[in-house]
Amino acid sequence: MSKSEKLYEKAKELMPAGVSSPVRAFEPYPRYIESAKGSRMRDVDGKEYVDYCMAFGPLILGHSPPNVVTVVKKMLEKGSVFGAPTEQEIVLAEKIRSHYPAAEMLRLVNTGTEATMHALRLARGFTGRKKVVKVEGAYHGAHDAMLVKAGSGALTHSAPNSLGVLEDVAKHTMLVPYNNSRALRNALKGEHGDVAAMIIEPVLGNVGPILPEEGYLQEVREITLDEDVLLILDEVITGFRLGLGGAQEMFGIKPDLLTLGKIVGGGFPIGVFGGRREIMEKISPLGGVYQAGTFSGNPISVSAGLETIRTMEKKGYASLERRSRNLREGLEDVLERSSLGYQVSGIGSMFQIFFTNAKMRNWDDIRTSDTARFMQMFRRLLDEGVYVPPSQFETNFLSTAHSDADVEFTIAAYEGAIRGLS
Ligand SMILES: Cc1ncc(COP(=O)(O)O)c(C=O)c1O
Repeated sequence: MSKSEKLYEKAKELMPAGVSSPVRAFEPYPRYIESAKGSRMRDVDGKEYVDYCMAFGPLILGHSPPNVVTVVKKMLEKGSVFGAPTEQEIVLAEKIRSHYPAAEMLRLVNTGTEATMHALRLARGFTGRKKVVKVEGAYHGAHDAMLVKAGSGALTHSAPNSLGVLEDVAKHTMLVPYNNSRALRNALKGEHGDVAAMIIEPVLGNVGPILPEEGYLQEVREITLDEDVLLILDEVITGFRLGLGGAQEMFGIKPDLLTLGKIVGGGFPIGVFGGRREIMEKISPLGGVYQAGTFSGNPISVSAGLETIRTMEKKGYASLERRSRNLREGLEDVLERSSLGYQVSGIGSMFQIFFTNAKMRNWDDIRTSDTARFMQMFRRLLDEGVYVPPSQFETNFLSTAHSDADVEFTIAAYEGAIRGLS
């Protein structure tokens, strides 16, 4: 029995499925991790993997980048949390606003879940309306209003609509299909001004990356303006991932509110919500919308995030994205040589492969993919020394620590894993 198996036996007595977050669980047992550096992760049995899970997105510089470690160590000497504001928070807020001008004001919180929860509460508080719109298959964190046809672990483990969410809450969440602006217009037309906000992942990242069709996001912006509905761009994944200015810069969209997380914390917990000044001034103690958090804006996450953003400002995204393109092209070649129906989807340093012939436009398409075949491939990839998120419905991420040699190794590993898949 491997050490991971032994740990799993013990862990599942203590924690549901032996994990602290559901999408880390997989059969027959998760690999318990001992350490990670750069593009590599090592489990407790000494097996090394080239990692494309990258903690589900935050680690754009790879695991434990030396400059971030140095900054964090220095900060730790001074304190880990103060419960009072710091100058560094202002520096980070200014830095974020310089890349996301839509964030005229912002608040730092601890997770992406908190960021979207507060952004939605704020949208309701500001407009005095109840309903919100979300996209089918999008994931915005594990809070009640958003656990309706949600992606990520919720979809992987067949709970896109969670038990325990009151019908009275869920009934105010309207669903629309991604990449279908006509459906959005029709849905809003019927609501006669009762909708506070639409929240959207500009690139669906929690079902694998599903890209917006030409003009779709611009139409979403136009429709929400026409119908007087606030637009919340959830860039928890895409922020500082699709370039410094995220998807809003890439696609030229200005939202009313936006959320960030993951990369902004440089490997430590963080979330950000921000937007138009007049809306943000509704937040307590200026206004009547409450938000608070003991660890919000803590100096460890703030200093790690600042160092990470500064590093990406210096490095740029060109070689990260070139390697990502090379990897996707290599995977296309491998899959083309197999007899399997497939799609390789990706943008920037995000990618996923789907076993289906359907073109990936929305939830109905992604549901056609063969998840059993995906999990078969996933297990073989582990044997080959490649760790990807244990779900068809997640995105794989490259970091600046992934080398050309890693990419070559990975293409060969996929080739080995895909060979003989039934
Ligand atoms: C788009 C998006 N929003 C919100 C969240 C929730 O973030 P967190 O897991 O930090 O609570 C996630 C998490 O994956 C996400 O991908």
